[in-house]
Amino acid sequence: MAFTSFDFSGQVVLVTGAASGIGRATAFAFAKSQAKVVVSDVSEEGGLETVRQIQKIGGEALFVPCDVSQSAQVQALMKKIIDTFGRLDSAFNNAGIEGPQSSTADYAEEAWDRVIDTNLKGVWLCMKYQIPIFIKQGHGNIVNCSSIAGMIGFQGVPAYVASKHGILGLTKTAALEYSKQNIRVNAVCPGVIETPMIERFTRGDTKAHELLVAGEPMGRVGHPAEIAQAVLWLSSSGASFVTGHPLVVDGGWVAQ
Ligand code: NAI
Repeated sequence: MAFTSFDFSGQVVLVTGAASGIGRATAFAFAKSQAKVVVSDVSEEGGLETVRQIQKIGGEALFVPCDVSQSAQVQALMKKIIDTFGRLDSAFNNAGIEGPQSSTADYAEEAWDRVIDTNLKGVWLCMKYQIPIFIKQGHGNIVNCSSIAGMIGFQGVPAYVASKHGILGLTKTAALEYSKQNIRVNAVCPGVIETPMIERFTRGDTKAHELLVAGEPMGRVGHPAEIAQAVLWLSSSGASFVTGHPLVVDGGWVAQ
């Protein structure tokens, strides 16, 4: 695949959930585009591996551990970024979990809380502590990771679908609130992307994987780097008039 190149020289970007999948690919793409990348995740091992991969291509990255569902940890993450670099230009609030599969009436309350706390409260907490930095410095970009499950329903994952719909509501609201302060807030809505999350979701079952591929009009699942491209564009000056937008990158799934 031939990808567009971007120039984020001199900029500091944060990617949460950057130890794996879409987050890792996006951290890597930002680093390739000359950004200084803050790689954040609950997984130290995976986060450090992302940093190693970035350093291997001569990029600059720093791992900062953070559980996005924990307010004190999110605050500490933003403080660490400002103490280290003195600025934050863009954030990709990507960390998320799929949760167990079960229909709405059977869904366990503990699982509901965990999915909502990670996916929805996590994105809100990140924005809560990023926006004051952006207001102070006079600019900033946020891309939140929603999903095609933020646009349409999927049976068996009610908390996940609710969290991803909620992220779009939050994104639009924050976009309106800060639009006059040079802060853009957008979302990316990936279709089925080949990552460890999808492996867990299909439980390694080839038939289940084939069903997902069959649901994709392009007849294939997406690559994490294809989501990274959309995130980099939304974070770039090329998207200067784009805010409050859910950018669907799904091979045509929701067009059906
Ligand atoms: P993944 O499982 O490969 O990566 C998710 C990362 O988030 C992991 O490194 C994990 O350690 C981290 N994480 C989990 N809970 C966390 C927390 N509380 N605090 C900080 N980090 C945490 O999954 P993938 O596929 O890369 O997913 C990334 C995002 O993309 C998620 O928000 C997911 O919902 C979304 N997405 C994924 C799709 C797919 O098909 N893979 C489709 C649509 C959306």
